[in-house]
Amino acid sequence: MTAPKDMIDLARSMMANAYAPYSKFPVGVALRGESGRIYGGCNVENAAYPQGVCAEASAISALIGGGDRHITEVLVMAPGVGLVTPCGGCRQKLREFAADDVQIHIAGPEGLRRSVTLGELLPLSFGPENLKF
Ligand code: THU
Repeated sequence: MTAPKDMIDLARSMMANAYAPYSKFPVGVALRGESGRIYGGCNVENAAYPQGVCAEASAISALIGGGDRHITEVLVMAPGVGLVTPCGGCRQKLREFAADDVQIHIAGPEGLRRSVTLGELLPLSFGPENLKF
């Protein structure tokens, strides 16, 4: 699996603009919508710590505001040696707009490290279909 260069480049520029003065851990995200367009987001922390917003949530807002309603591909970029996968809350936020087979590319500043699916990160998930009965 290769990560698309447009998503890598956007996530990198988002990570560079992240507002993370407290954790000093900048995260950039790129999401592709069903239109083919890509949307970026970064984490935006707050002096009232719980009010901080993750990069994924920021990117989802941009995608929805841009008119897309489905996420077809995700890329997360963060520093450090490990794999930075979306936190539990963000997995659920992605789930609202993404199917189980959507690829989530995990990258460091140097490039792609691994690709997984949303279904691998959030198996047997609860989603909008559950509310239709
Ligand atoms: N963070 C994200 O924005 N996305 C992730 O996938 C992991 C964590 C942010 C939240 C906080 O601003 C900082 O990284 C440290 O947890």
